[in-house]
Amino acid sequence: MTDIDISTHDHTRSPFLHPARSGLVSVLAMKDGEAVLDGRGGAVRPVHPGDGALLWELARDAGGIDLNAPYAYMMTARNFAATCVIAEVYGKPAGFATAHRLPSRPDTLFVWQVAVLPEFRGLGLGRRLLDGLVALRGCAGVRVVEATVTPGNAASEALFTGFAKARGARLDIRAGFTEDDFPDDARHAAERLFVIHPIHSFDQ
Ligand SMILES: CC(C)(COP(=O)(O)OP(=O)(O)OC[C@H]1O[C@@H](n2cnc3c(N)ncnc32)[C@H](O)[C@@H]1OP(=O)(O)O)[C@@H](O)C(=O)NCCC(=O)NCCS
Repeated sequence: MTDIDISTHDHTRSPFLHPARSGLVSVLAMKDGEAVLDGRGGAVRPVHPGDGALLWELARDAGGIDLNAPYAYMMTARNFAATCVIAEVYGKPAGFATAHRLPSRPDTLFVWQVAVLPEFRGLGLGRRLLDGLVALRGCAGVRVVEATVTPGNAASEALFTGFAKARGARLDIRAGFTEDDFPDDARHAAERLFVIHPIHSFDQ
């Protein structure tokens, strides 16, 4: 894991509660304004509308996912900030999850991308990102989580499987996008649709 200078920070306080001085975020979870701190400095915070460029940089640096145009991340941060999260470790951005509620089925949260920087993997941040997502006020009433997973992506499969298991939810694996669904000039592996339900978001 990357060495991080934590000597100058007070990790027992929650700067997220004071966004103007939130160069450091050590909030693991928030409920009704109360922060829960993680002993390793892990934090999950909501995305802000101006975080698009940061999301793109995290996607680029994490690797293992499609890197889309910067505009896609800027649009996502602007329009779907309420259903996206960023993970930080002692204030250093370490991963993200982008998602949106389906207009036709608002109780369904579609997780578009989730990624953790290589140096922070295996520490539980991926799980925290998913837990943080469904704990957002913007996800109140969410009962179903969907995501597509490329066959062979063991980490992604384990992430969603573990998330479902920890919540006592069912995991249904259905057809998602086939290889033929992708453009001829931009071939892509098939994506299976993982459907996790029921989800009990914070409003329950
Ligand atoms: C998928 C990813 C986000 C997981 O993040 P992470 O912080 O390492 O995940 P966690 O530490 O929270 O582990 C979650 C679970 O996955 C398992 N896992 C993590 N990496 C794994 C690997 N390489 N192979 C198998 N299982 C793995 C963990 O053991 C854990 O299982 P558990 O719930 O049964 O305890 C990360 O590997 C990543 O960024 N990959 C590249 C991008 C990607 O593929 N994203 C998903 C598709 S959008």
